[in-house]
Amino acid sequence: PNPSHATRTLPYGAAAIADAARVIAAGGCVAVPTETVYGLAADATESGAVAGIYAAKGRPSFNPLIVHVLDLAAAERIAVFDAVALRLAAAFWPGPLTLVLPVKPDAGIASLVTAGLETVAIRVPAHRAMRSVLAASGVPLAAPSANASGAISPTRAAHVVASLGGRIPLVIDDGATTAGVESTIVSTAGGISILREGPITREQIDALFSRESGRPVSHALRAVTLDRGRGSAVTAPGQLDSHYAPSKPLRLEAREAGADEWLIGFGAIPGDDTLSATGDLTEAAAHLFDALHRADASDRRTLAIAPIPHTGIGAAINDRLRRAAHR
Ligand code: TXA
Ligand code: MG
Repeated sequence: PNPSHATRTLPYGAAAIADAARVIAAGGCVAVPTETVYGLAADATESGAVAGIYAAKGRPSFNPLIVHVLDLAAAERIAVFDAVALRLAAAFWPGPLTLVLPVKPDAGIASLVTAGLETVAIRVPAHRAMRSVLAASGVPLAAPSANASGAISPTRAAHVVASLGGRIPLVIDDGATTAGVESTIVSTAGGISILREGPITREQIDALFSRESGRPVSHALRAVTLDRGRGSAVTAPGQLDSHYAPSKPLRLEAREAGADEWLIGFGAIPGDDTLSATGDLTEAAAHLFDALHRADASDRRTLAIAPIPHTGIGAAINDRLRRAAHR
């Protein structure tokens, strides 16, 4: 192995942050926890740095990345905010909400980040590690989830090392992430569309606007397509039906384990492991990817998971499970 590709894991702290800022200034990428999942962060204004993210993940270059910034003022230097976007930002930032907005062409965001689209996905994270790296590096950071493209998302430093070890120089370890599923992605073009379900729930967004204007939330998950010209179109998130995928077949809505099958339980269904014994959906989201990683590493031939209610963050859990089960 090439020693320059040895992956170091450092605990969150001043030394790790300084090291991360050095790697990013040199055009490299670093795995950093956020409140959702671990992200693979690089300078969003440097196309070479962004290319390094795509290379490390083995990600198809048509799939655009999320830009992370410290605050709304920094976001407004990059994207054009309408009134609805400002209201969403005021309500949910810093936090697990990503807004898809028109990109300002002079903001210096590398076109590899937006994959050539006229919009940019942007968010203000709440996690101390990502915020410290943003402050120390002083640039907007493009950061997709820190896993090989299509694989299960990482909620622990060890997941990142298992997936990208040897391909990136540094992982900042700040324990398990709290939300456990990727940010909710919302577009405000022509109404409000949820492009990816996540920790900020449809119910929360509905409540915000029904209080004020009665504006309905259109559920555009997988329906919104972005015309990229030449007849090729990209639907927003998870364009790929198979995503977040374990290496073994996964059976959904299971009530008991079959032969040689690992069952992930929920509530009254105990299983080999459980997302939440008390049936708590927030706890279940936080445990989801860790449970899939452990199930995949078990000695059983196939995987199964108990039914998960579709309310609140359950919608995000079921979205990830549907893709994880698709083969
Ligand atoms: O929680 C998260 O959002 C994590 C952490 C690291 O912040 N990041 C994350 O990034 O999930 P990633 O790259 O795995 O997912 C980004 C999603 C993709 O599905 C992509 O298609 C969508 O955002 N996206 C990015 N730019 C877009 C745009 N301009 N229009 C529509 N969708 C966009
Ligand atoms: Mg991802």
